[in-house]
Amino acid sequence: MLTHYPTKRSVLVPTLLYAQDEIGHLSDEAILEIGARLDLTELEVRNVISYYSLLTTKARGKYNVQVCTNIACMLRGGEKLFEHCKKKLAIGHKQTTQDGFFTLEEVECIGACSWAPAIQVNYDFHENLTPDKLDKVLDEYKKKDAQSIG
Ligand code: FES
Repeated sequence: MLTHYPTKRSVLVPTLLYAQDEIGHLSDEAILEIGARLDLTELEVRNVISYYSLLTTKARGKYNVQVCTNIACMLRGGEKLFEHCKKKLAIGHKQTTQDGFFTLEEVECIGACSWAPAIQVNYDFHENLTPDKLDKVLDEYKKKDAQSIG
């Protein structure tokens, strides 16, 4: 990746995303390794991680469900969706289901305001949601996973 960017520092965010996709979160070892390879201090790496909500140092479920409750989504039912998600998954903000499948997060704007209310599951966006549509989306992830295993 170093050949695709003008400076080593520019490689940091994509490298962190690759590492996180590979191991599920950014472990202390991954942070130190990436810092060493990019000539950055541990603090410089951790500062970038803390800035981006997509990056995490904590283990989370296979699917990270981010429900936007910012203004556009709030006006179109985002808070209701978040409450619905909490009940359906029986977890709260930043918690993970017992089977390790879903982590739930209430987040600020995810850039899909025109299609509010919206959620993001890992890298996928789901828009114009209602509680019923949301149920179908989450059930689809379960189904997809069962098919990939079986
Ligand atoms: S306010 Fe929800 S996507 Fe922008």
